[in-house]
Amino acid sequence: MDLHYRKSRTVDINDLFDVRSKTQENPISRARLAQMGVTHASLTDGLESGLLCSWVCTSDERVVGFCIGDTSTGEVLVLAVLPDFEGLGIGKQLLRRVVDQLLVSELNSVWLAADSNPSIRAHGFYRFLGWRPTGEVLENGDEILSYRGVEST
Ligand SMILES: CC(C)(COP(=O)(O)OP(=O)(O)OC[C@H]1O[C@@H](n2cnc3c(N)ncnc32)[C@H](O)[C@@H]1OP(=O)(O)O)[C@@H](O)C(=O)NCCC(=O)NCCS
Repeated sequence: MDLHYRKSRTVDINDLFDVRSKTQENPISRARLAQMGVTHASLTDGLESGLLCSWVCTSDERVVGFCIGDTSTGEVLVLAVLPDFEGLGIGKQLLRRVVDQLLVSELNSVWLAADSNPSIRAHGFYRFLGWRPTGEVLENGDEILSYRGVEST
């Protein structure tokens, strides 16, 4: 399969919303994201200012996965891969690119909030890649995982 990785551009933003709403697990609609303050305008501002670092994976020029990190906090805000493209290493590749960028931002560690349900694919995925629970749990039940720069693969 012809997969390409590149930094996200503002013209990709509608595709990012589309992919995020179509994941096998944990899909989030554009309307729900708007309630959380994530809009086309907020992503445009974030990408243009450099506050957000983001990569996409494309197949035949179609965005099939993406990842976004916040360079001010070290948080990986989102990682999403379309169902038909899971299991191809895309999540790992995208996450590595964003984490590499976050770690050069003089942050000691990077972190994310994830569903604590062990039956969710992301649960094992992050652990497999060296992410560890910090013990902190958010009000919505999501757990905080951190990563300190030593990946197992
Ligand atoms: C979680 C997600 C990003 C994983 O992406 P993916 O492209 O399918 O994962 P990859 O193919 O890159 O997997 C990388 C490695 O992790 C391993 N892995 C994946 N899920 C695993 C699991 N549940 N348990 C153990 N290992 C796992 C893979 O076997 C692979 O190993 P390899 O490098 O030896 O081949 C994807 O399933 C997804 O988008 N899920 C829905 C959205 C979501 O939940 N996002 C995360 C929270 S925001």
